[in-house]
Amino acid sequence: MTERTISIIKPDAVAKNVIGQIYDRFEKAGLRVVAAKMMQLSDEQAKAFYAVHQARPFYNDLVSFMTSGPVMVQVLEGENAIAKNREVMGATNPAEAAPGTIRADFAASIDENAVHGSDAPETAAEEIKFFFTDAELCARKR
Ligand code: CMP
Repeated sequence: MTERTISIIKPDAVAKNVIGQIYDRFEKAGLRVVAAKMMQLSDEQAKAFYAVHQARPFYNDLVSFMTSGPVMVQVLEGENAIAKNREVMGATNPAEAAPGTIRADFAASIDENAVHGSDAPETAAEEIKFFFTDAELCARKR
């Protein structure tokens, strides 16, 4: 099934100048960028995006990290895009991420873990709406 998912290249990976290397991983996995924007998240935006983690002990650190520099946000489209993106990213904690995954290769810690990806169809739909209007999602030429 063709799906869409949100991917965020986090401030640590943008600072390391590996946006292109991460895009290469997406493309090699058959994922296609159908919308993208580089942005500096405000405190308000980061808090709202991660509202689901509000009660977690890492919430404040997460918000300050996500606002510490620009992020690259993209919608990825492809067969089983949600699961495929999660596979390419590797485990949340880079220490547990499989070799060859984005987090194993580019992330330093569970807090600064290079990328975010939607975890389910419902959250993917919400997260896409959070960042993009329908008009900004570019239909693929067949
Ligand atoms: P992400 O997929 O962006 O979703 C929430 C983020 O919180 C997660 O990646 C991690 O970078 C960060 N985080 C920090 N500590 C934890 C933890 N114990 N469990 C899950 N996420 C954590």
